[in-house]
Amino acid sequence: MGSKVFYRDFRKSYKTVAYGKGVYLYDIDGDRFLDGCGGNTVANVGYGVEEIIEAVYAQMKKTSFGHTSRFTSEVQEMLAEKVISLSPKGMSKAYFLSGGSEATEAALKMARQFHIETGNSQKYKVISRWQSYHGNTIGALSMGGRSFRRKNYVPYLLDFPHIAPSYCYRCPFHREYENCGIECAWELERVIKQEGPENISAFIFEPLSGSSLAGVYPPKEYYKIIREICDRYDILMISDEVMTGFGRTGKNFGIDHWDVCPDIIAVGKGLTGGYAPAGGLIVHEKVSEAFRKGSGSFAHGHTFVGNPLTCAAALATQTYMGKHDLIHQSAEKGKALLEMLKERLDSEIIGDARGKGLFIGIEFVKDQKTKETFNRKARLAESIGDLAFKKGLHILPGFGCADGVSGDHILIAPPFVISEEEMEELVSILNETIKEVKARILR
Ligand SMILES: Cc1ncc(COP(=O)(O)O)c(C=O)c1O
Repeated sequence: MGSKVFYRDFRKSYKTVAYGKGVYLYDIDGDRFLDGCGGNTVANVGYGVEEIIEAVYAQMKKTSFGHTSRFTSEVQEMLAEKVISLSPKGMSKAYFLSGGSEATEAALKMARQFHIETGNSQKYKVISRWQSYHGNTIGALSMGGRSFRRKNYVPYLLDFPHIAPSYCYRCPFHREYENCGIECAWELERVIKQEGPENISAFIFEPLSGSSLAGVYPPKEYYKIIREICDRYDILMISDEVMTGFGRTGKNFGIDHWDVCPDIIAVGKGLTGGYAPAGGLIVHEKVSEAFRKGSGSFAHGHTFVGNPLTCAAALATQTYMGKHDLIHQSAEKGKALLEMLKERLDSEIIGDARGKGLFIGIEFVKDQKTKETFNRKARLAESIGDLAFKKGLHILPGFGCADGVSGDHILIAPPFVISEEEMEELVSILNETIKEVKARILR
């Protein structure tokens, strides 16, 4: 009864959003919500930016569509220039899509075709990490390592290997940095050998973990070792930057923190800041060249590849970011916000607070010494998310960080335009929320 919408969750009631401005969303009853997670790391430039809206409208008046089997558009060409100028040196082409799962799925196929073009047609398996998320389509879900998202669809999933995450707070190898030999990186080589390097096409990873491990990132040596292993076995390195791309972590791309150049970068969300659905691939010259010199075309495509409205929204978003120095702001405000959270939050149940730029994760524990997790039945993270929302703050709760099933965390990732006063508001609502939920659960 009631609404005809097939909602995500039939048990929940949803606020009807009316409009957004800056870091706030307003519902039709006039209630205000501080978007402490930019939706889910989408609204990097905030809501209601007139110049982006006008750019999309202006493009719509020219044309909203031109099929890419026959047409390119000025806006697509300009956006590709812009995106390549922001990317690590060596990246030479950009491919625009409509969502993050489309991007990772296309990366899987592009890696496969790269090996066909270069005479290694047996290579097809993609290695990824447990406790990672790469999207919800079947290929993307097969690469992902979030047990609860995979569970119902296991019969459809591709037989892709997974390695342990790089997660110092709960090292899967029970080692301690810096005396660990970065075993988590070398596990990649072990699995490649085990599966047969002749079968492996790519390794995909989130440079800083998003929804599954909230802000966790590997030590400084990790991606250099991964690069070395990928080169040794002719395996493409795919950085999934659907969350971390375009300044979210305080640099253009998450992988820039390690000064390593991947072969493919998958992007989404922040490309358009939510002003149009978006995804895309940024492709290294080595990969583009293989296609150009080989069959000449990518055996893949969607109706909305290179869509002019997506491109207009993305170009205007990235231009706005540059004009207002927003990536620098993400870096600086991120540091300040992480400090505020560490200092001011009721810390008794906080195990770890981490992240870079405005991409911050908080992991909750029942016991700070033993790192014991809360009973999953208590739904601690969800309770914090729900109560914070009631109090006017949106954050992203998650679970499974400890072992894929247990462990509670939240992701905090506000728009880069957040002011000091708004950061104060965020921390204060969150603190009140954590105190109340803790009292209820530990009672
Ligand atoms: C790292 C990562 N990859 C891929 C995706 C999938 O993107 P989308 O939901 O736009 O399909 C997400 C979504 O949250 C993500 O965080």
